[in-house]
Amino acid sequence: MKHIHINLTNVQQTTLNKNMYKSLLITTVLFFVLSCNTNSEKKKNDISIQQEGKVPQTELQKSLEQGKSVYKDFCIQCHMANGKGIPNNFPPLAGSNWLTEKRKESIHVVKYGQKGEIEVKGIKYDGIMTPMGLSAEEVADVLNYIMNSWGNTQSSMVTEAEVSSVEK
Ligand code: HEC
Repeated sequence: MKHIHINLTNVQQTTLNKNMYKSLLITTVLFFVLSCNTNSEKKKNDISIQQEGKVPQTELQKSLEQGKSVYKDFCIQCHMANGKGIPNNFPPLAGSNWLTEKRKESIHVVKYGQKGEIEVKGIKYDGIMTPMGLSAEEVADVLNYIMNSWGNTQSSMVTEAEVSSVEK
């Protein structure tokens, strides 16, 4: 009797072991499959983040970035950070009709300076903006910056060649 009993227990134990082994195997496989999935998702994310950082700057983006620093160095003290200028002293660039309607004249102002009576957004100014000795590239960059800031939009990018073509 005892002998049979032991035998039965052995059989039971083997099936139990087999079942445990099976479920352990399944768990392990599942774990690997799941962890592989999250790994590949992580890798995908890593790649897309890297790609975002590596997206080459367009010519306009580069010009805007450089123009921003020209603006800070040469224009901000009169036309202000918000581009609104100072009422009755320094005309606004934000919403300026010069930048949209008088493209050539705007290039001329930044390249050679400006004095005498002008009208901007319906208000007359009679001040002096001295020439700042900027290079053609700097003039193009700062114009692109002010034409694309504070809600302003431009029809096309100002290029160095376009600035060079504007004569005194
Ligand atoms: C010292 C003050 C001063 C500085 C600095 C200055 N401006 Fe001006 N800006 C003026 C004045 C004053 C006028 C109007 C001149 C007039 O009345 O004839 C003017 C006019 C303009 C105009 C044409 C009118 C308008 O508002 O759209 C533009 C464009 C312009 N400035 C851009 C610039 C840019 C870009 C810079 C920097 C590179 C700059 N200015 C630096 C004082 C300044």
